[in-house]
Amino acid sequence: MQTTNKFVPGLDGVVASETAISLLDTKEEKIIIRGYELIELSRENDFLDMVHLLLENSLPTAEEKEKLDKKLKDNYGLPKEIYDILKLLPKDTHPMDGLRTGLSSLGGFDKDLLDFSTEVNKDRAYDLLAKLPALIVNSYHILNGDEPIEPRQDLSYGANFLYMVTGRVPSKLEEEIFDRALLLYSEHEMPNSTFTARVIASTMSDLYGALTGAVASLKGYLHGGANEAVMHDLLKADSASEFEELIMNKLRNKEKVMGFGHRVYMKKMDPRALVMKDALKQLCEAKGDYKLLEMCEAGEKVMEREIGIYPNLDYYVAPCYWLLDIPIPLYTPIFYGSRASGLTAHVIEQHDNNRLFRPRVKYTGEQYSPIK
Ligand code: SDX
Repeated sequence: MQTTNKFVPGLDGVVASETAISLLDTKEEKIIIRGYELIELSRENDFLDMVHLLLENSLPTAEEKEKLDKKLKDNYGLPKEIYDILKLLPKDTHPMDGLRTGLSSLGGFDKDLLDFSTEVNKDRAYDLLAKLPALIVNSYHILNGDEPIEPRQDLSYGANFLYMVTGRVPSKLEEEIFDRALLLYSEHEMPNSTFTARVIASTMSDLYGALTGAVASLKGYLHGGANEAVMHDLLKADSASEFEELIMNKLRNKEKVMGFGHRVYMKKMDPRALVMKDALKQLCEAKGDYKLLEMCEAGEKVMEREIGIYPNLDYYVAPCYWLLDIPIPLYTPIFYGSRASGLTAHVIEQHDNNRLFRPRVKYTGEQYSPIK
């Protein structure tokens, strides 16, 4: 075994895996997903295309897409016991924790839990992607003391997801923008949650366990939890100048401003954020109210001017979700619902070509002395 003594805090810049799934190509400023560019995909394709690309390594033909759509719709329903479990949770449980509990419990319903062959893992992944909208949204409704909403098979995957959140069928524009955010959130190389899932999978633990660990990882505000934090900040201000002042105060207090910065895009804007900024413009135009866009643009300007740090995807997704009438506690769970497509692809890849993750440490404790 070769040991390198170089300690890199936070594994910043360390290559931890080989993968054929995705790469953030910072030189070319492209997010590559199985040979395609994410931003281009977001113009031409929808979330179901992305699911097929991630799990089957190709964009679907019309026939394949129809089959995938049917496969997901046929498996939308959750076992009744999952609802019973969710009803036992304390009412102030965050929906991410409801999701974590429900997802973990789903493992018990899998009859082939210890079969990690690619085909069984893929079927498991599709089943999970089918069930996640109901699990995410209904854990929120149950925690609020409301009745679960039945999925609707006559709507597209994204439209049904959004319908279950709001209880109303979205407009074409709302459906497109929600789906675009699902697509953009689906896969992003090796963020903390993906690393977590791969580390768990590398012990040859099952897909549910790996994905449950990833929920906990994504919940934190340095990662997926940022989209909720951005919206809470936006709601503290009522105009562009008030939001600018709020950010200036945070900077004076050396606080992190949510929705800004990224471990990989350090001195540039996350390309996905630009797409959602455009979506925010479209939503503001449809509502005839540009206040949120003006506030976000003011925030973007002040962060660039003061510390040269740029928005990430969460910064522009948050106000879009707000205008789509999505309750804030569902922002991170919905991010997860999308990211599960990439996570399942990573777990399958890890199982198919495994090497146990087991790194070493830089020891900073006491030197050895014998117990007297
Ligand atoms: C996601 O990895 C992925 O791909 C993740 C993701 C995905 O799709 O999976 O893209 C999704 O998680 C997006 C990130 C969401 N998080 C936030 O928006 C929270 C706010 N941002 C940060 O705290 C921060 O930028 C991180 C956590 C995202 C990245 O942080 P790093 O790489 O650990 O950098 P750092 O915290 O060490 O900061 C380096 C410098 C510091 O200044 P100095 O001490 O060197 O002077 O940049 C400053 C920081 O203070 N800085 C910020 C800042 N982000 C960095 N200052 C104020 N506000 C910020 N947001």
